[in-house]
Amino acid sequence: MDMAALGRRGLVVLGCGKMGSALLAGWLVRGLEATSVCVIDPAPSDWLVRQGVRLNDDLPESPAVVVIAVKPQIMAEALPRIAGFGGGDTLVLSVAAGTPILRYEEAFGPGTPVIRAMPNTPAAIGHGISAIIGNAAATPAHLALAESLMGVVGQVVRLETESQIDAVTAVSGSGPAYVFHMVEALAAAAEREGLSPALATRLARATVSGAGRLLDARTEDTPATLRRNVTSPGGTTEAALEVLMDEASGLGSLMARAVRRARERSEELARG
Ligand SMILES: NC(=O)c1ccc[n+]([C@@H]2O[C@H](COP(=O)([O-])OP(=O)(O)OC[C@H]3O[C@@H](n4cnc5c(N)ncnc54)[C@H](OP(=O)(O)O)[C@@H]3O)[C@@H](O)[C@H]2O)c1
Repeated sequence: MDMAALGRRGLVVLGCGKMGSALLAGWLVRGLEATSVCVIDPAPSDWLVRQGVRLNDDLPESPAVVVIAVKPQIMAEALPRIAGFGGGDTLVLSVAAGTPILRYEEAFGPGTPVIRAMPNTPAAIGHGISAIIGNAAATPAHLALAESLMGVVGQVVRLETESQIDAVTAVSGSGPAYVFHMVEALAAAAEREGLSPALATRLARATVSGAGRLLDARTEDTPATLRRNVTSPGGTTEAALEVLMDEASGLGSLMARAVRRARERSEELARG
Protein backbone atom coordinates (compact mmCIF):
# COMPACT_ATOMS: atom_id res chain seq x y z
CA MET A 1 0.00 0.00 0.00
CA ASP A 2 1.25 3.47 -0.82
CA MET A 3 1.05 5.09 2.62
CA ALA A 4 2.05 8.47 1.20
CA ALA A 5 -0.90 8.47 -1.24
CA LEU A 6 -3.24 7.33 1.52
CA GLY A 7 -1.86 10.00 3.79
CA ARG A 8 -2.48 12.79 1.26
CA ARG A 9 -6.24 12.17 1.28
CA GLY A 10 -6.34 11.30 4.95
CA LEU A 11 -7.92 8.57 6.97
CA VAL A 12 -10.60 8.80 9.66
CA VAL A 13 -10.89 6.29 12.50
CA LEU A 14 -14.17 6.14 14.41
CA GLY A 15 -13.48 4.50 17.76
CA CYS A 16 -9.89 3.74 18.65
CA GLY A 17 -9.88 1.14 21.41
CA LYS A 18 -8.17 -2.24 21.21
CA MET A 19 -8.78 -3.02 17.52
CA GLY A 20 -8.53 0.56 16.25
CA SER A 21 -5.24 1.03 18.09
CA ALA A 22 -3.78 -2.26 16.81
CA LEU A 23 -4.54 -1.16 13.24
CA LEU A 24 -3.28 2.37 13.75
CA ALA A 25 -0.03 1.10 15.27
CA GLY A 26 0.53 -1.08 12.19
CA TRP A 27 -0.15 1.76 9.73
CA LEU A 28 2.15 4.15 11.57
CA VAL A 29 4.96 1.58 11.64
CA ARG A 30 4.55 1.19 7.87
CA GLY A 31 5.04 4.88 7.32
CA LEU A 32 1.59 6.48 7.42
CA GLU A 33 1.98 10.10 8.47
CA ALA A 34 0.37 10.45 11.94
CA THR A 35 -1.05 13.88 11.08
CA SER A 36 -3.00 12.39 8.17
CA VAL A 37 -5.10 10.31 10.59
CA CYS A 38 -8.15 11.82 12.29
CA VAL A 39 -9.41 9.82 15.25
CA ILE A 40 -12.85 10.27 16.75
CA ASP A 41 -12.92 8.79 20.25
CA PRO A 42 -14.47 10.34 23.37
CA ALA A 43 -11.78 9.03 25.74
CA PRO A 44 -8.48 8.53 23.88
CA SER A 45 -5.91 6.36 25.61
CA ASP A 46 -2.52 7.76 26.68
CA TRP A 47 -0.92 5.70 23.90
CA LEU A 48 -3.20 7.29 21.33
CA VAL A 49 -2.48 10.80 22.57
CA ARG A 50 1.27 10.16 22.19
CA GLN A 51 0.98 9.11 18.52
CA GLY A 52 0.53 12.63 17.14
CA VAL A 53 -2.68 11.84 15.24
CA ARG A 54 -5.43 14.45 14.98
CA LEU A 55 -7.78 13.74 17.86
CA ASN A 56 -11.44 14.79 17.80
CA ASP A 57 -10.41 17.55 15.42
CA ASP A 58 -11.88 18.93 12.17
CA LEU A 59 -12.37 16.10 9.69
CA PRO A 60 -10.94 16.05 6.14
CA GLU A 61 -13.41 16.74 3.33
CA SER A 62 -12.97 13.48 1.45
CA PRO A 63 -10.71 10.99 3.24
CA ALA A 64 -9.58 7.88 1.39
CA VAL A 65 -11.01 5.66 4.12
CA VAL A 66 -13.22 5.85 7.17
CA VAL A 67 -12.46 2.97 9.50
CA ILE A 68 -15.26 2.08 11.90
CA ALA A 69 -13.99 0.37 15.05
CA VAL A 70 -16.64 1.16 17.66
CA LYS A 71 -18.65 -1.46 19.49
CA PRO A 72 -21.79 -2.45 17.56
CA GLN A 73 -24.06 -1.27 20.38
CA ILE A 74 -22.96 2.36 20.03
CA MET A 75 -23.11 2.34 16.22
CA ALA A 76 -26.40 4.25 16.06
CA GLU A 77 -24.98 7.01 18.25
CA ALA A 78 -21.58 7.14 16.51
CA LEU A 79 -22.42 6.88 12.78
CA PRO A 80 -24.17 10.25 12.25
CA ARG A 81 -20.86 12.05 12.90
CA ILE A 82 -19.35 10.51 9.76
CA ALA A 83 -22.46 9.95 7.59
CA GLY A 84 -21.44 12.93 5.40
CA PHE A 85 -18.61 10.86 3.90
CA GLY A 86 -21.11 8.69 2.04
CA GLY A 87 -21.95 8.68 -1.65
CA GLY A 88 -18.48 9.58 -2.89
CA ASP A 89 -15.18 7.82 -3.23
CA THR A 90 -14.49 7.45 0.51
CA LEU A 91 -14.26 3.79 1.46
CA VAL A 92 -16.15 2.79 4.59
CA LEU A 93 -14.24 -0.06 6.25
CA SER A 94 -15.86 -1.54 9.33
CA VAL A 95 -14.36 -4.07 11.73
CA ALA A 96 -17.46 -4.14 13.93
CA ALA A 97 -18.90 -7.59 14.53
CA GLY A 98 -22.58 -8.08 13.87
CA THR A 99 -23.37 -4.90 11.91
CA PRO A 100 -24.40 -5.82 8.35
CA ILE A 101 -23.33 -3.89 5.24
CA LEU A 102 -26.94 -2.83 4.70
CA ARG A 103 -26.82 -0.83 7.93
CA TYR A 104 -23.89 1.21 6.56
CA GLU A 105 -25.56 1.61 3.17
CA GLU A 106 -28.58 3.07 4.98
CA ALA A 107 -26.38 5.43 7.00
CA PHE A 108 -24.03 6.53 4.19
CA GLY A 109 -26.40 6.42 1.25
CA PRO A 110 -26.48 4.37 -1.94
CA GLY A 111 -23.34 3.92 -3.97
CA THR A 112 -21.04 4.21 -0.96
CA PRO A 113 -18.25 1.63 -1.11
CA VAL A 114 -18.48 -0.43 2.08
CA ILE A 115 -16.23 -3.27 3.22
CA ARG A 116 -16.79 -5.33 6.33
CA ALA A 117 -13.80 -6.98 7.96
CA MET A 118 -13.90 -9.58 10.68
CA PRO A 119 -10.56 -9.64 12.52
CA ASN A 120 -9.71 -11.49 15.73
CA THR A 121 -7.83 -10.76 18.96
CA PRO A 122 -4.34 -11.96 17.96
CA ALA A 123 -4.42 -8.85 15.74
CA ALA A 124 -3.19 -7.07 18.87
CA ILE A 125 0.22 -8.70 18.31
CA GLY A 126 0.11 -8.78 14.50
CA HIS A 127 -0.99 -12.43 14.34
CA GLY A 128 -4.67 -12.00 13.57
CA ILE A 129 -6.64 -13.24 10.62
CA SER A 130 -9.31 -11.05 9.04
CA ALA A 131 -11.96 -11.93 6.49
CA ILE A 132 -13.24 -9.14 4.24
CA ILE A 133 -16.31 -8.72 2.07
CA GLY A 134 -17.40 -5.65 0.12
CA ASN A 135 -20.70 -4.36 -1.26
CA ALA A 136 -21.45 -3.81 -4.96
CA ALA A 137 -19.88 -0.33 -4.90
CA ALA A 138 -16.56 -1.62 -3.56
CA THR A 139 -14.13 -1.86 -6.48
CA PRO A 140 -11.14 -4.21 -6.73
CA ALA A 141 -8.99 -1.20 -5.75
CA HIS A 142 -11.08 -0.67 -2.60
CA LEU A 143 -10.73 -4.37 -1.72
CA ALA A 144 -6.99 -4.20 -2.27
CA LEU A 145 -6.82 -1.12 -0.04
CA ALA A 146 -8.85 -2.85 2.70
CA GLU A 147 -6.64 -5.91 2.39
CA SER A 148 -3.50 -3.87 2.94
CA LEU A 149 -5.04 -1.89 5.80
CA MET A 150 -6.10 -5.08 7.60
CA GLY A 151 -2.88 -6.84 6.57
CA VAL A 152 -0.88 -4.86 9.13
CA VAL A 153 -2.47 -6.95 11.92
CA GLY A 154 -2.16 -10.36 10.29
CA GLN A 155 -3.43 -12.46 7.41
CA VAL A 156 -6.40 -11.44 5.26
CA VAL A 157 -8.84 -13.69 3.41
CA ARG A 158 -11.59 -12.62 1.03
CA LEU A 159 -15.15 -13.93 1.29
CA GLU A 160 -17.61 -14.51 -1.53
CA THR A 161 -20.81 -13.58 0.30
CA GLU A 162 -21.59 -11.53 3.38
CA SER A 163 -23.46 -14.45 4.96
CA GLN A 164 -20.11 -16.30 5.27
CA ILE A 165 -19.09 -13.72 7.86
CA ASP A 166 -21.28 -15.41 10.48
CA ALA A 167 -19.36 -18.68 10.07
CA VAL A 168 -16.05 -16.78 10.07
CA THR A 169 -17.08 -15.03 13.28
CA ALA A 170 -17.85 -18.42 14.81
CA VAL A 171 -14.49 -19.89 13.74
CA SER A 172 -11.68 -17.31 13.76
CA GLY A 173 -13.50 -14.41 15.46
CA SER A 174 -14.52 -16.34 18.56
CA GLY A 175 -11.93 -19.09 18.08
CA PRO A 176 -9.13 -17.63 20.22
CA ALA A 177 -11.45 -18.01 23.23
CA TYR A 178 -11.95 -21.70 22.40
CA VAL A 179 -8.18 -22.17 22.44
CA PHE A 180 -7.83 -20.27 25.74
CA HIS A 181 -10.50 -22.54 27.16
CA MET A 182 -8.54 -25.53 25.88
CA VAL A 183 -5.63 -24.30 28.04
CA GLU A 184 -7.96 -24.01 31.04
CA ALA A 185 -9.32 -27.52 30.45
CA LEU A 186 -5.84 -29.01 30.00
CA ALA A 187 -4.63 -27.29 33.18
CA ALA A 188 -7.66 -28.50 35.13
CA ALA A 189 -6.99 -32.05 33.91
CA ALA A 190 -3.34 -31.71 34.95
CA GLU A 191 -4.45 -30.69 38.45
CA ARG A 192 -6.73 -33.73 38.64
CA GLU A 193 -3.64 -35.82 37.91
CA GLY A 194 -1.95 -34.34 40.99
CA LEU A 195 0.09 -31.43 39.61
CA SER A 196 0.07 -28.07 41.38
CA PRO A 197 -2.13 -25.31 39.87
CA ALA A 198 0.94 -23.25 38.92
CA LEU A 199 2.70 -26.13 37.21
CA ALA A 200 -0.53 -27.27 35.53
CA THR A 201 -1.14 -23.83 34.02
CA ARG A 202 2.46 -23.43 32.95
CA LEU A 203 2.47 -26.80 31.17
CA ALA A 204 -0.89 -26.21 29.48
CA ARG A 205 -0.05 -22.69 28.35
CA ALA A 206 3.37 -23.58 26.96
CA THR A 207 1.95 -26.65 25.23
CA VAL A 208 -0.74 -24.71 23.37
CA SER A 209 1.51 -21.79 22.43
CA GLY A 210 4.32 -24.18 21.42
CA ALA A 211 1.94 -26.24 19.28
CA GLY A 212 0.68 -22.98 17.71
CA ARG A 213 4.22 -21.97 16.82
CA LEU A 214 4.84 -25.38 15.32
CA LEU A 215 1.74 -24.96 13.15
CA ASP A 216 3.11 -21.61 11.99
CA ALA A 217 6.58 -22.98 11.31
CA ARG A 218 5.47 -26.14 9.46
CA THR A 219 2.96 -24.81 6.96
CA GLU A 220 3.89 -27.62 4.56
CA ASP A 221 2.45 -30.16 7.03
CA THR A 222 -1.29 -30.52 7.62
CA PRO A 223 -2.49 -30.43 11.24
CA ALA A 224 -3.31 -34.13 10.84
CA THR A 225 0.31 -34.86 9.86
CA LEU A 226 1.61 -32.90 12.84
CA ARG A 227 -0.75 -34.89 15.06
CA ARG A 228 0.33 -38.21 13.57
CA ASN A 229 3.99 -37.22 14.03
CA VAL A 230 3.52 -37.19 17.81
CA THR A 231 1.29 -40.28 17.98
CA SER A 232 3.22 -43.51 18.26
CA PRO A 233 1.20 -46.73 17.98
CA GLY A 234 0.10 -48.00 21.35
CA GLY A 235 1.51 -44.93 23.09
CA THR A 236 0.11 -42.35 25.49
CA THR A 237 -0.95 -39.80 22.86
CA GLU A 238 -2.89 -42.45 20.99
CA ALA A 239 -4.66 -43.44 24.21
CA ALA A 240 -5.77 -39.85 24.78
CA LEU A 241 -6.72 -39.27 21.14
CA GLU A 242 -9.03 -42.30 21.22
CA VAL A 243 -11.07 -40.36 23.79
CA LEU A 244 -10.70 -36.96 22.09
CA MET A 245 -11.51 -38.30 18.62
CA ASP A 246 -14.52 -40.39 19.63
CA GLU A 247 -17.15 -39.74 16.98
CA ALA A 248 -20.05 -39.24 19.36
CA SER A 249 -18.48 -37.61 22.41
CA GLY A 250 -15.11 -36.30 21.15
CA LEU A 251 -13.81 -32.84 20.41
CA GLY A 252 -14.99 -32.97 16.79
CA SER A 253 -18.67 -33.18 17.64
CA LEU A 254 -18.29 -30.76 20.56
CA MET A 255 -16.52 -28.22 18.32
CA ALA A 256 -19.13 -28.61 15.60
CA ARG A 257 -21.89 -27.85 18.13
CA ALA A 258 -20.01 -24.89 19.60
CA VAL A 259 -19.27 -23.34 16.20
CA ARG A 260 -22.86 -23.89 15.04
CA ARG A 261 -24.17 -22.15 18.17
CA ALA A 262 -21.76 -19.21 17.67
CA ARG A 263 -22.77 -18.89 14.01
CA GLU A 264 -26.45 -18.86 14.95
CA ARG A 265 -25.77 -16.20 17.59
CA SER A 266 -23.89 -14.10 15.04
CA GLU A 267 -26.92 -14.30 12.73
CA GLU A 268 -29.25 -13.34 15.59
CA LEU A 269 -27.11 -10.31 16.49
CA ALA A 270 -26.96 -9.19 12.86
CA ARG A 271 -30.78 -9.24 12.73
CA GLY A 272 -30.73 -6.90 15.77
N1 LIG B 1 -10.91 -6.63 19.91
C1 LIG B 1 -11.04 -7.62 19.05
O1 LIG B 1 -10.30 -8.61 19.06
C2 LIG B 1 -12.09 -7.57 17.95
C3 LIG B 1 -12.20 -8.67 17.09
C4 LIG B 1 -13.14 -8.61 16.05
C5 LIG B 1 -13.93 -7.49 15.90
N2 LIG B 1 -13.80 -6.46 16.77
C6 LIG B 1 -14.69 -5.32 16.60
O2 LIG B 1 -13.98 -4.13 16.72
C7 LIG B 1 -14.82 -3.13 17.28
C8 LIG B 1 -14.07 -2.48 18.40
O3 LIG B 1 -13.74 -3.46 19.37
P1 LIG B 1 -12.63 -3.18 20.47
O4 LIG B 1 -12.34 -4.47 21.12
O5 LIG B 1 -11.54 -2.38 19.86
O6 LIG B 1 -13.51 -2.28 21.48
P2 LIG B 1 -13.00 -1.09 22.42
O7 LIG B 1 -11.63 -1.37 22.88
O8 LIG B 1 -14.09 -0.85 23.42
O9 LIG B 1 -12.93 0.14 21.40
C9 LIG B 1 -14.04 0.92 21.01
C10 LIG B 1 -13.63 2.37 21.12
O10 LIG B 1 -14.71 3.20 20.66
C11 LIG B 1 -14.81 4.30 21.57
N3 LIG B 1 -16.13 4.96 21.49
C12 LIG B 1 -17.20 4.83 22.33
N4 LIG B 1 -18.20 5.63 21.92
C13 LIG B 1 -17.76 6.28 20.80
C14 LIG B 1 -18.33 7.24 19.92
N5 LIG B 1 -19.59 7.68 20.08
N6 LIG B 1 -17.60 7.70 18.89
C15 LIG B 1 -16.34 7.24 18.70
N7 LIG B 1 -15.74 6.33 19.50
C16 LIG B 1 -16.45 5.84 20.53
C17 LIG B 1 -14.54 3.65 22.89
O11 LIG B 1 -14.29 4.62 23.88
P3 LIG B 1 -14.64 4.24 25.44
O12 LIG B 1 -13.66 3.19 25.83
O13 LIG B 1 -14.46 5.52 26.15
O14 LIG B 1 -16.07 3.75 25.42
C18 LIG B 1 -13.33 2.80 22.57
O15 LIG B 1 -12.13 3.52 22.60
C19 LIG B 1 -16.08 -3.84 17.77
O16 LIG B 1 -17.16 -3.51 16.92
C20 LIG B 1 -15.76 -5.30 17.69
O17 LIG B 1 -16.88 -6.05 17.26
C21 LIG B 1 -12.89 -6.48 17.79
